[in-house]
Amino acid sequence: MTRHFLSLSDAGGDTLAAMLNDAIDRKAARKEWPKARPDADAPLAGHVLAMIFEKNSTRTRVSFDMAMRQLGGSALIMEAGSTQLGRGETVADTARVLSRMVDAIMIRTDDHAKIEELAHYAEVPVINGLTDLSHPCQIVADLLTVVERGFSLPGLQVAWLGDGNNVANSLIEAAGQMKFTVRIGGPSGYEPNAGFIEQARAAGGEVILTQDPIHAVKGAQVVVTDTWVSMGQPGGEKHIAAMQPYQVNTALMAQADPGAMFLHCLPAHREEEVTNEVIDGPQSAVWDEAENRLHAQKSVLLWALGKL
Ligand code: CP
Ligand code: NVA
Repeated sequence: MTRHFLSLSDAGGDTLAAMLNDAIDRKAARKEWPKARPDADAPLAGHVLAMIFEKNSTRTRVSFDMAMRQLGGSALIMEAGSTQLGRGETVADTARVLSRMVDAIMIRTDDHAKIEELAHYAEVPVINGLTDLSHPCQIVADLLTVVERGFSLPGLQVAWLGDGNNVANSLIEAAGQMKFTVRIGGPSGYEPNAGFIEQARAAGGEVILTQDPIHAVKGAQVVVTDTWVSMGQPGGEKHIAAMQPYQVNTALMAQADPGAMFLHCLPAHREEEVTNEVIDGPQSAVWDEAENRLHAQKSVLLWALGKL
């Protein structure tokens, strides 16, 4: 069966753990190497990944491209606006054509139904590089960052502050898969997806919703936030005003566990969802987190292509 990675549960908890181990090993094995030199085993030699972008990206684009190079393969970028997809060729026909020419497809798009349709018609793995609903690749990198700092995932206490967006949904999904607690601190009306919460709870994760930012971060070992207004969201004054109490600043971080780390998928809107003092401070792990997109994406690709 074709291994699509549309959500974390497509892989499951045991596979996610294996991905993290593989990422740690590969990262260590190539320390200090030139960045584009292939890993010693070049497991994806001769393989090509097509990347479709219907939204902007820096990290996802570069991490997948470099991941393919380091795995011995290559990647090509399709900016949707300059493809026939952007002129109305159907998702199904695009899936059929790409399946004849490339080994895997990564797509960043808006409507999650579009990626499901692409996966339905593709004969090669489809990887979710972000939709309006979820961002699972980001969360593999986040889990990697947490684990490499010595935290164990089962029982971990995580706080999410602000908008209940695509990244929050995937974090909640991870709580179910890896059995940790996530407390969501955010305003009423901006909660994460109810289906993700229900599914995570059923899988053994603890998900707590609160409008009190202090309750959310109290004792948390990991504090996470993201932009208050995601790509494609209308935003507006009311939205921004509702988010103000959830800014991650020094006073809020002081309520978390003293050894807590701060994560942000980036790009950050400095002095909005996070202050400079926190994102540039000693508890911030955001640059490791960004680098770990590369190492995490290698594991996702290896799994999708049946090498892990
Ligand atoms: N975090 C993340 O997905 O970044 P990009 O939007 O730059 O890809
Ligand atoms: N929630 C953000 C994540 C960007 C990587 C967005 O969708 O814009």
